[in-house]
Amino acid sequence: MNSIDMSVDFLGRKLVNPIVAASGTFSFGMEHSEFMDIEQLGALTVKGITVDEKIGNPPPRITETPSGVLNSIGLQNPGIDYFIDNILPRLSQYSVPVIINISGESVQEYCQIVRKLENQPIFAIELNISCPNVDKGGIEFGTSSQSIYNLVKTVRKATDIPLIVKLSPNVTDICEMAISCEQAGADAICLINTLKGMAIDAKTRRPILGNIVGGLSGPAIKPVALRMVWEVSRRVEIPLIGMGGVMDGQDAAEFMIAGATAVGVGTANLVHPYACENISLQLKDFCRENNISCVSSLIGTLKY
Ligand SMILES: Cc1cc2nc3c(=O)[nH]c(=O)nc-3n(C[C@H](O)[C@H](O)[C@H](O)COP(=O)(O)O)c2cc1C
Repeated sequence: MNSIDMSVDFLGRKLVNPIVAASGTFSFGMEHSEFMDIEQLGALTVKGITVDEKIGNPPPRITETPSGVLNSIGLQNPGIDYFIDNILPRLSQYSVPVIINISGESVQEYCQIVRKLENQPIFAIELNISCPNVDKGGIEFGTSSQSIYNLVKTVRKATDIPLIVKLSPNVTDICEMAISCEQAGADAICLINTLKGMAIDAKTRRPILGNIVGGLSGPAIKPVALRMVWEVSRRVEIPLIGMGGVMDGQDAAEFMIAGATAVGVGTANLVHPYACENISLQLKDFCRENNISCVSSLIGTLKY
């Protein structure tokens, strides 16, 4: 098979392929442009941004675990005004669709950021309601379907920019949270963020992370993520970005088969700066080897 159509339609736009750089693992994108052509990404999600600058949690903030990584970065970022004035103009020189991941300590803060993003050259806003590494904001919105509904509904009224909601796996029923997002007017759902975890040094009896607990990502969480993407895809109509432990093209195909339209790559970027590009090429190889002419034909095709 000569030509394989790797594009997917997502939020009214044709992405060149389904691979999306996941928030917090690709910085603001330009750093990676030294290693790869970032225009070859389906989309690029920037590090989580808050109203004011955040210095993040005390070190150590990242540690390896068997088949994964625990991080407790704590949303370190320069704040929305600095981002809009100094980073976004450079990033928007590239044709890659840019997704802005945002966090707030209150509904008002989310709306404040969203209003500042109005008329900026961005593709979509991703509401991070799932960060396990901050005391206030993030995950506290993401573990109750009522507070998710209230937040998304209020932000929806504040903007017409496409809204993606990023869900936490640290809940009993992920479908309940996803349905609330859809009912409140979200355009898409991104799942999953990291699973809460911790690491201990038995000799010193001390936690390894400065924040004591952190979020687990990487191959260790892939089965959980696949299960959640599959469950949610059967309960909502809006498209999904599936992620969690995607390390190669076959992993990406699995997420699409489970029901994701696009596939996020996070921890793999920490292992290899070319990860997104490699995974996209491997996904194309997977299609070629399996006589698939359009990658989008994989979406939601689990046989059971
Ligand atoms: C170091 C690090 C920082 C992260 N920062 C953010 C963030 O700022 N906002 C967010 O929504 N998710 C953040 N995440 C979560 C990832 O975007 C992704 O949802 C998660 O790691 C699962 O995908 P993976 O297994 O491919 O890494 C971060 C993950 C890591 C490893």
